[in-house]
Amino acid sequence: MYLSRFVSLFALALVAVGQDIFIPAVKKAFDDADIPEDIEIVFNPTALLEVSLPQTVGPPIILHAGIHVPRNDTAGPPTFHVVGNVGHGPFVVATVDPDAPTPADPTEAQVRHFLGGNFFNENGLLVNVTPAVSEFRQPTPPAGSPAHRYTFLLFNQSPEFNSQTLVNASTIVTNFNISQFASAVDLGNPIAGTFMLVAPDPAT
Ligand SMILES: *[C@@H]1O[C@H](CO)[C@@H](O)[C@H](O)[C@H]1NC(C)=O
Ligand SMILES: *[C@@H]1O[C@H](CO)[C@@H](O)[C@H](O)[C@H]1NC(C)=O
Ligand SMILES: *[C@@H]1O[C@H](CO)[C@@H](O)[C@H](O)[C@H]1NC(C)=O
Repeated sequence: MYLSRFVSLFALALVAVGQDIFIPAVKKAFDDADIPEDIEIVFNPTALLEVSLPQTVGPPIILHAGIHVPRNDTAGPPTFHVVGNVGHGPFVVATVDPDAPTPADPTEAQVRHFLGGNFFNENGLLVNVTPAVSEFRQPTPPAGSPAHRYTFLLFNQSPEFNSQTLVNASTIVTNFNISQFASAVDLGNPIAGTFMLVAPDPAT
């Protein structure tokens, strides 16, 4: 019993190498990176959000919380999966950068890198049936900055989301506040999330 459980966990780890597998590890990575404090959210995830970045050559990069990704590999747009017993949806996905223009002086934070709703859970794949409110923007941390924490959050969608007027495709992406937005639109706390660290392109 113990041995077979060990073997199947080991097999799972081999298959799933790289991506988030354990919810407590994701929570710890968020806490260790001070993300809940810095974006003023309560982060007690009950599921895993899997974010895949397509690559021009080779398989997608699947994030795990705190992974460093070369900026050039972050063009996206990402696809999202959810792992956990979360129901069919709808869901909202938000991506924010709390470190713009630099982590030490984040005067433009948060920058909204994605905001989309009406995602439904199709056997784990999150499929959106409406265009995103804010389409994905590739990370562009400025030269000289340390890596930024690009943070992806999954929320249960509220009835209010589809009639919100706070953000649209032409709303400025800087000085966004996901805590304030979630509160205004009644999204509650995120149910899952992950984040990647992206540094500026090396000087050429
Ligand atoms: C960066 O990405 C572009 C487009 O995907 C590719 O053509 C280029 O070779 C990449 N550069 C590096 C240094 O990987
Ligand atoms: C988009 O939102 C901005 C506020 O962020 C508002 O001023 C503008 O009228 C909105 N545009 C449309 C087309 O709704
Ligand atoms: C973001 O919104 C929350 C309210 O949800 C507020 O407490 C906080 O001060 C805001 N942060 C900034 C930087 O404005």
